[in-house]
Amino acid sequence: ATVKSELIECFTSEEPFHHRKVSIIGTGSVGMACAISILLKGLSDELAFVDLDEGKLKGETMDLQHGSPFMKMSNIVCSKDYLVKANPNLVIITAGARQEKGETRFNLVQQNVAIFKLMISSIVQHSPLCKLIIVSNPVDILTYVAWKLSAFPKNRVIGSGCNLDTVRFQFFTGQKLGIHSESCHGWVLGEHGDSSVPVWSGMNIAGVLLKDMNSDIGTDKDPEKWKNVHKEVIASAYEIIKMKNSTSWAIGLSGADLTESILKNLRRKHPVSTIIKGLYGINEEGFLSIPSLERRVLPTL
Ligand code: NAI
Ligand code: LAC
Repeated sequence: ATVKSELIECFTSEEPFHHRKVSIIGTGSVGMACAISILLKGLSDELAFVDLDEGKLKGETMDLQHGSPFMKMSNIVCSKDYLVKANPNLVIITAGARQEKGETRFNLVQQNVAIFKLMISSIVQHSPLCKLIIVSNPVDILTYVAWKLSAFPKNRVIGSGCNLDTVRFQFFTGQKLGIHSESCHGWVLGEHGDSSVPVWSGMNIAGVLLKDMNSDIGTDKDPEKWKNVHKEVIASAYEIIKMKNSTSWAIGLSGADLTESILKNLRRKHPVSTIIKGLYGINEEGFLSIPSLERRVLPTL
C-alpha cells in the first residue's frame, strides 16, 4: 500500500471531467501572458500548452506549475502533440512569427499562413468541437485562414481583432481626461492595427457623448486634436516592440477577458474579428472587428 492509496479511496477509474478546458498554442510572450491572465482569474480548470519548441514549452509549463498553490486550478499540462490536448472548450492560437522592429504585421502573413496550414488540421482532428480565438498576426487575415481551413461554423472562429486597439483607445482617452480607462467608452473597429477605425460618434463618458461637447472631435478641424489619441493607439504597438521586442501584457489580459465571456457565456459585447459577409452591405468574405456577442452555449464535450 502507498500513502496515496491509504489516504484516498478511489471509487472510479474514470478520467476527471473538465468543464472548462483551454489550450494555448504558442508559449511565447503572448501565449504566456494569456495564460497567466487566465490563471489568475481562475477561468479554466485545465490549461494545456502546445509549442514546437519543446524546451520552452516544458520550461514555461514547469515554471507555472510550481506556482499552483497560488492558483485555483489543478491541471497545467503541455505537449508537442495535439492529441493529448484533445477536446478543449477553447483554443487560443498565439503561435507564429512576430514583427521585428519596424516591420508591419503584414510582413508575417506568408510565414504564419504556412504555420496555420499545419496547425489548424491537427486542432480540427483532435478538438473538433472547440472554439478558436486567433491572436497571431496579421490577425484578421489569419482568422479568415483558420475559419477556411477548419471549416468550423462562423460563430466558432473569432480573432482578438480590435479588442486590444479598443482598450488602448480607452487607456489614452482616460489619460487625456484624467478618468479611469474602464469609464471611458469608445470602440475601435475594422482591421486590427494601422488601419483600425475609431468610432468618434459613440465615444462617451457616463453616457455623455464627447461629440456633443466637441462637434469636430476626431476631424482635422478639432482644436483638441483627439485624432492623436487614435494615432497613439497605432503607434504604441510599434513603440513597445522597439523597446521590448514584443507586446504581451495588454493582449494577454484582453485574451483572458474574451475567454471569460466565452467560457461563462456572459453575452458581453466585444470588438472582435468576425466574418462580415452579409453585414453593412459587404458581399465579400473577410474578417474585421465589429461589436460582437457570444451567440451559443458551449458545445457539450
Ligand atoms: P514569440 O516568438 O514570443 O512566440 C511565438 C511562439 O510560437 C514560439 O514559442 C514558437 O515556438 C511558437 N510556434 C511557432 N510555430 C509554431 C507551430 N507551428 N506550432 C506551435 N507553436 C509554434 O511571439 P509572441 O510575441 O508571443 O507573438 C505571437 C504572435 O502574436 C505574433 O504573430 C504576434 O504578431 C501576435 N500578436 C498579436 C496581437 C494581437 O493583438 N492580435 C498582439 C501581440 C502579438
Ligand atoms: C499589437 C500587436 C503587435 O500589440 O498586433 O498591436
